[in-house]
Amino acid sequence: MIGLPDESSKKSKKYGAVSIAAIVVVIVFFSTNLFAWSKILLLGQDTDICPIVKIERPESFYKDNSTVTNILQGDEFRKVSAEKLSKAVQVDTQIYDDPPEVDSNPEYWAKFKKFHKYLEKTFPTVYEHLEVNTVNTYGLVFYWKGSNSKLKPLMLTAHQDVVPVQEETLGDWSHPPFEGYFDGKTMFGRGVSDCKNVLVSIMETLEILIKQDFKPERGIIAAFGMDEEVSGWHGASHIAGYLEERFGKDGIYAIIDEGAGLTKDPFTGNIIAMPGTGEKGYVDVEISLTTPGGHSSVPPDHTSIGILSELAYVIEQEQYEPVLTELNPTLHMLQCQAAHDHRKKIPGILRKSILRAGYDKVANSFVLKQLSKIPSLRYLMQTSQALDIISGGEKNNALPENAKLLVNHRVAIEKNVDSVKEAITKKVLAVAKKHDVGLNAFGKKLLEPTAKGNFDVHVSGKSTETAPVTPIGDELWGYVAGVTRHIFEDYVFTNLTDPVVVAPAIMTGNTDTRHYWNLTDHIYRYSPMFMLDFLKDTNVHSVDEHIEFDNHLRLLAFFYEFIQVVQQ
Ligand SMILES: *[C@@H]1O[C@H](CO)[C@@H](O)[C@H](O)[C@H]1NC(C)=O
Ligand SMILES: *[C@@H]1O[C@H](CO)[C@@H](O)[C@H](O)[C@H]1NC(C)=O
Ligand SMILES: *[C@@H]1O[C@H](CO)[C@@H](O)[C@H](O)[C@H]1NC(C)=O
Ligand SMILES: [Zn+2]
Repeated sequence: MIGLPDESSKKSKKYGAVSIAAIVVVIVFFSTNLFAWSKILLLGQDTDICPIVKIERPESFYKDNSTVTNILQGDEFRKVSAEKLSKAVQVDTQIYDDPPEVDSNPEYWAKFKKFHKYLEKTFPTVYEHLEVNTVNTYGLVFYWKGSNSKLKPLMLTAHQDVVPVQEETLGDWSHPPFEGYFDGKTMFGRGVSDCKNVLVSIMETLEILIKQDFKPERGIIAAFGMDEEVSGWHGASHIAGYLEERFGKDGIYAIIDEGAGLTKDPFTGNIIAMPGTGEKGYVDVEISLTTPGGHSSVPPDHTSIGILSELAYVIEQEQYEPVLTELNPTLHMLQCQAAHDHRKKIPGILRKSILRAGYDKVANSFVLKQLSKIPSLRYLMQTSQALDIISGGEKNNALPENAKLLVNHRVAIEKNVDSVKEAITKKVLAVAKKHDVGLNAFGKKLLEPTAKGNFDVHVSGKSTETAPVTPIGDELWGYVAGVTRHIFEDYVFTNLTDPVVVAPAIMTGNTDTRHYWNLTDHIYRYSPMFMLDFLKDTNVHSVDEHIEFDNHLRLLAFFYEFIQVVQQ
């Protein structure tokens, strides 16, 4: 009988264990996030997150859809349209960094005169019927006055310039970059997808509408800068001033500029369109450190290079925190993906957390943690910092008197340029104190220069604040999304089981629209073309830049219908 367990003591131990467990559960439930988690897991999702907007077709479509059908499917139309784009590519409009003022060096800019000639020759009806203005000589603004002066005009925009072709890559192109080669399906050439395609499709649209004797109630502006690829200070910046003077602050109805389009959502498999409704800010910060020179046989323990290297390390030690609030289009993009994930491709906890992330702290931090692991998503939620240039030192036996570090930042939607200045100042201040050198940060003297040296921190070049975010869910959003659905569901993907999801997104780069904020708060960086992978499917800025011509035609069809829909 040895070794038989004592039943009663076992039982009491068990009860003891159960009650301790219960207490632990209660403590855990209330002292941790378990309560929050049970809400995330058990509560249903809001049904009004990212509603699918209704399809918008202009009235003319119901009477006679042959124009749109012809744009998208007509063989002859395709041929003629291809020639127009190809010839636009043949006019070389490369722009290089730091262009001279237009007035001071007319020769430099003369290539744009050629481009204007090409436009005038190719689109005579547009030149004949619309008011044509040049701004700062080579910026182009076409204005089609509407019959109802109470309606603010719609503005479509693109740029005439293209990024340079690197001399040494010329041999790598399958077809010369300024030939505009077209094999019937794909067109090759510099600018063919960034963004002479947008410019030409706007001109083609205007031409078609004029020929159809369309009479806009709402005016239409087409504006084309000539230095977008070097930040637009000679083109778009002047165009902005011209339009603000003419139409007033907030005098434009909406702006559509080059931008993202449609893709197959890698998470859900849905077709998703992503008009850019926000843009991150931009600031380059240069930090220079001056220290006494001297012979390197009797060096101090830390030279300017050493101290600056320590600072570089300190800067990278601490990255900016990711943030994701209602203000950030990225949250709405994720919610559009999650809300329409009917095939349940996104893991359940993540999907449910995304849907609550706008107001639920626990859900929000879970989403941030999970999605920050994906680099392409992380920087939609976080200010980026990249140490891009470091320089210093002259001679192998002389102490470096000066060393410089340049840090490039793309500022998160919820933040501003000042927040970057503040963060970097704090880091420099710590290193400056440690090494007993002075600090002048953004024009403020924080530490007196010492015999050991002095830091100077300043903005290099021009910074750009985070763009105001375009509202979604309003009438205009309905037009943008509704026409997109019409073109892509009626013509392109006629077999979809789920509708096209239209979600707002942010651009991590800037376009000419940075100059246009005063004109309207409705800016869409949007080129509704379909691609699985934008960079791979266009090689934009690279060798063999190309476009599937079908996409050019879709863009054209979109503009053609959108102009009509916003009249209603
Ligand atoms: C265009 O109109 C024709 C009838 O005129 C119709 O058969 C066709 O389905 C329409 N196309 C679309 C995409 O709605
Ligand atoms: C539509 O789907 C059906 C069934 O999946 C398929 O047989 C048909 O070829 C598809 N049509 C088009 C135009 O893709
Ligand atoms: C926008 O308007 C403000 C205030 O009127 C002005 O200071 C600023 O220069 C304008 N911005 C642009 C880009 O024109
Ligand atoms: Zn561009």
